[in-house]
Amino acid sequence: MIQAASGRLGMAWRLAAYRPGRSATRVDGHMTHDLPCPSPERQFFFTSFAAGVIPERPLGLAWLTVEAIQAFGHRSSHSGMRDPMTRPTTTLGLLGDTASRDYADKLRLFNAFAAPEIRQAIASLALKPGMRILDAGCGTGEALAWLADDVGPDGAAIGMDLATPHVRAAHSTAAKSGSLLLQGNILALPMVAASVDLVWSVNVINHLRSPVAGLQALMALVRPGGRVALGQSSLLPDMYFAWDSRLERLVNEAVRQYYRDRYQLDERDLTSIRAIAGLLRQAGLRDVHVRTFMIERLAPLRLEDENYLLNAIFRGTWGSRLQAYLSSSDHEEVMRLCDPNHPDYALRRPDFHFLQSFTLAVGVV
Ligand SMILES: C[S@@+](CC[C@H](N)C(=O)[O-])C[C@H]1O[C@@H](n2cnc3c(N)ncnc32)[C@H](O)[C@@H]1O
Repeated sequence: MIQAASGRLGMAWRLAAYRPGRSATRVDGHMTHDLPCPSPERQFFFTSFAAGVIPERPLGLAWLTVEAIQAFGHRSSHSGMRDPMTRPTTTLGLLGDTASRDYADKLRLFNAFAAPEIRQAIASLALKPGMRILDAGCGTGEALAWLADDVGPDGAAIGMDLATPHVRAAHSTAAKSGSLLLQGNILALPMVAASVDLVWSVNVINHLRSPVAGLQALMALVRPGGRVALGQSSLLPDMYFAWDSRLERLVNEAVRQYYRDRYQLDERDLTSIRAIAGLLRQAGLRDVHVRTFMIERLAPLRLEDENYLLNAIFRGTWGSRLQAYLSSSDHEEVMRLCDPNHPDYALRRPDFHFLQSFTLAVGVV
């Protein structure tokens, strides 16, 4: 299924297209389909309707056409990827992403927290009104709205993500910012080559088993002279407990070990993204440059900072997961530091100082 939504055009429209010859049975427990399975005639009608909505600014997208959907299925089988439309629970990437995987809450918390630095990174790209930008792996769509601000009403910000729950979560943001949304897989996108000026993609390429292949698939969508901008957080280890480097090191290592076990990866799989500049060059991008923004927070924290650190990290990423990877006394101490009801709660300590790196690597096609 490919879904699209548009807000800028003032029409709340939502479309679903089914691959010919496939059953229209719900393929994803999270989905509610607005439309019954359309007959081929109705598919054509919906396609025409979509084309009619954006007639004066053709984006060069082939989406919602039957050909595109067929091409999507064809390419996904050739690239060795499982079809996310028919196998929503199958693991697609290195870190367990599937069409039905949902970590929208964490993504919203992260973007509210890191908004100042991500907006700074976007500003460093000097985007111009009228540009067409694809946010590949847009998650819940916050950056999509910031990109749409910069390209203005004459430009286009298109968000694309594999996960249905993330695309759904991005609907309201996309509608407010007038962006377009597309559900699909980076490795098999139903979009016309050389149709955008810039691809923006944050914390996504490290989810792919073959980052160079993913990058090349994205490069193919960019016009000659356009750019690919990959953002990646935490190429350096995050600093949580500045006052206790031993505990911090053990916690960071415990988290990495947890993910290695969960996804059956080795150390190199999880850290290969640190070679991001080399990846861009290897994929064939020119004029590669990188810039790292520090996300730095000091007590007293903003509400957005506390919400992210407490809910996405202390509770959502650490919690009882770390128990198996720390001694019981270290785990108890971490739990005290992470408990808002405990006097030792880290986020209320006057010496709380958090550091996380955010690196933007940009290359020209
Ligand atoms: C860590 S999140 C980052 C989301 C967003 N860019 C952000 O910064 O908040 C990774 C996103 O990539 C999406 N994703 C993973 N593999 C993908 C693929 N092969 N094609 C498209 N999206 C993918 C996931 O569904 C998820 O929304």
